[in-house]
Amino acid sequence: MFPEVRLRRLRRTPELRKMFDLTFPPPAKFIWPVFLVGGTNRKEPIASMPGQSRMSADVLIRELEPVVAQGIGGILLFGQHDGEKDNQGSGAYDPQGVVQQAIPLIKKAYPKLIVMTDVCLCAYTSHGHCGPLDMHGNVDNDAACEMLAKVALSHANAGADVVAPSAMMDGQILSIRDILDEHNFTDTLVMAYSSKFASNLYGPFRDAENSQPGQGDRKGYQTSYANYRLALRESEFDEEEGADILMVKPGLFYLDILQKVREASDLPVAVYNVSGEYAMLIATAERGWGDLHGMVQESIMALTRAGADLIISYWAPRYNEFFK
Ligand code: PBG
Ligand code: ZN
Repeated sequence: MFPEVRLRRLRRTPELRKMFDLTFPPPAKFIWPVFLVGGTNRKEPIASMPGQSRMSADVLIRELEPVVAQGIGGILLFGQHDGEKDNQGSGAYDPQGVVQQAIPLIKKAYPKLIVMTDVCLCAYTSHGHCGPLDMHGNVDNDAACEMLAKVALSHANAGADVVAPSAMMDGQILSIRDILDEHNFTDTLVMAYSSKFASNLYGPFRDAENSQPGQGDRKGYQTSYANYRLALRESEFDEEEGADILMVKPGLFYLDILQKVREASDLPVAVYNVSGEYAMLIATAERGWGDLHGMVQESIMALTRAGADLIISYWAPRYNEFFK
């Protein structure tokens, strides 16, 4: 106790702080989410996410060069669908789809980059929900699982290393693991968006992806932020269904959940530092109300402290600028 013990001596100089401080995760732990569009030579800046763009595959491959050079571990692909949308979201498993076509090109250019794909239907359904609607207008869970399995298979066929189902349907991990194994994709990993909350922080992403539900919201499938036990059961179930990686999403408002999931499981746990978390810091910095570098560093350290093994973040391509 004071005065024999003086805590400030442990942080007196930059060198001492450096010695005792936790370090930022290396770039290999970071995953950059990217928005793919069809065609060529397309780069459309996303207004709600300054610094991020919708890109065609050729542009993405160009933009990936400095990202890969920094040692970023992987990318998470989201496809934007220009074609017909239907109740089922059948465009999502089209072998000619943007994601399916881009994967082999990306793998060819960067064989060591881990390519992950978001497996969902909302960018492909006419109504914008994450699964087909039944005759009463409710998302049909089991029909959604069948569709999601087909989507995951199409991504694995194209060469995805990791498929990441984000629809929050019951049994989706089991359906996907089954179909992958049936087709001998036993090495394809499944990263479950396991505790994904019905959050207000997805707004900028929905602008980017055009995936806003036409009617209603996602509260019937994404988990409630006011019921943390149910959110924890979601991750437990996904582990039992065969997920290789769990995920908590969003990150910064859910550090308690992240810590609990980390403690309850021995699986790797990813965190998704979502679009609203990204836009929030940029908006604050733009108004001169906070230093961007400091806020980015502090927020990523918070995710690390809470136990994230993998960090899915729009800051990933700027790793050297923020974390080196
Ligand atoms: C689609 C999906 C969403 C995000 C990732 N996958 C949006 C949603 O659920 O509405 C959000 C990502 C972000 O905000 O950065 N299922
Ligand atoms: Zn969705």
